[in-house]
Amino acid sequence: MRIAVPAETQGTETRVAVTPETVRKFIGLGADVAVEKGAGLASGITDADYQAAGAAIAKNAKEALKGADIVLKVRRPAEGELAGLPAGALVIGIMDPYGNEAAVEGLAKANVAAFAMEFMPRITRAQVMDVLSSQANLAGYRAVIDGAAEYGRALPMMMTAAGTVPAAKIFIMGVGVAGLQAIATARRLGAIVTATDVRPATKEQVESLGAKFLAVEDEEFKQAQTAGGYAKEMSGEYQAKQAELTAGHIAKQDIVITTALIPGRPAPKLITAAMVESMKPGSVIIDLAVERGGNCELAKPGEIVTAPNGVKIVGHLNVPGRLPATSSSLYAKNLFAFVETLIDKAEKKLAVNWDDELVKATALTRDGAVVHPNFAPKA
Ligand code: NAI
Repeated sequence: MRIAVPAETQGTETRVAVTPETVRKFIGLGADVAVEKGAGLASGITDADYQAAGAAIAKNAKEALKGADIVLKVRRPAEGELAGLPAGALVIGIMDPYGNEAAVEGLAKANVAAFAMEFMPRITRAQVMDVLSSQANLAGYRAVIDGAAEYGRALPMMMTAAGTVPAAKIFIMGVGVAGLQAIATARRLGAIVTATDVRPATKEQVESLGAKFLAVEDEEFKQAQTAGGYAKEMSGEYQAKQAELTAGHIAKQDIVITTALIPGRPAPKLITAAMVESMKPGSVIIDLAVERGGNCELAKPGEIVTAPNGVKIVGHLNVPGRLPATSSSLYAKNLFAFVETLIDKAEKKLAVNWDDELVKATALTRDGAVVHPNFAPKA
């Protein structure tokens, strides 16, 4: 059983799919692990570190992939990588399939079994494999650090001989995994924190972290959470009420961090250009939803936009990748936990149970076809 870890090819990707710790564990399960030269460098892991853990260092992707049964990735293989994937191999990573149907088709044509880690069901057994949570948590933390770095003032209240510095006001919009960590981080740094969401369950979570909750709590709000725990897309009427409630609040904030997402849909627009205009010069908006269209009308993917009134709108891409060593270490553990379920430990060989709910939920392609119900051709 051979596991290959080619280097990531997407320019901004700093993470890597295995760490020396998980390499050791894979070897413990009876696997050989080949890591492409330099694959871990951006995450602070050298080839020597991997070698010391027992991995072989391959001089290029082609050599790493030769004879692989399992290919571990952070991102979906790019078109140029498809030809190098061994037929029949399991390819496991963050596949970002929505809106990329042609790329999913490409994986099927490459005759690999591609698994989308972000589709892991959020059930107790799979918590340890939940890449959305492990990475969103770090993005929430980093959003506050980035906000603090762009903001020209201190966050905590300071009483000094030269005068008193007021505490910064930080507003978190969307309180899932990223938003909760953003609240906790902002509180630790001494900011005055408020937060909003459309799911009623978040009210208690926000308050338990010592922040104040602000939301339109009408009948639609009471029904806003799906059975899966996610938010529904809210009606135009609700969005108008929400905008009216938050507009005055946003005008008084120093930093606003937005994290609001709806699975499979564009991110909801929560901050209009007029709201940005109402903010004080030097205020900062960090839009974590920018890769999915953005929560702020003025956010641009990969850019820091300065509005005419001096408000900065930060649209960093791949925010977990801004903490590569930590995000790789958690991501690699998520991958290991899943791959472990695909291996027969006594026989030390691959044994995928295609009826397992984790496999069914994440398998995108198999035997030359797209098999995931959300992407398979309609009958
Ligand atoms: P997400 O990344 O899909 O969305 C982020 C947040 O944006 C959510 O809280 C959502 O309610 C909010 N949002 C959506 N539209 C909004 C709007 N118009 N205005 C304001 N906020 C809006 O969510 P994430 O972080 O993936 O969490 C989703 C759920 O999954 C939560 O209930 C979380 O507690 C749950 N969860 C469960 C786990 C488990 O049981 N293993 C693990 C992790 C999360």
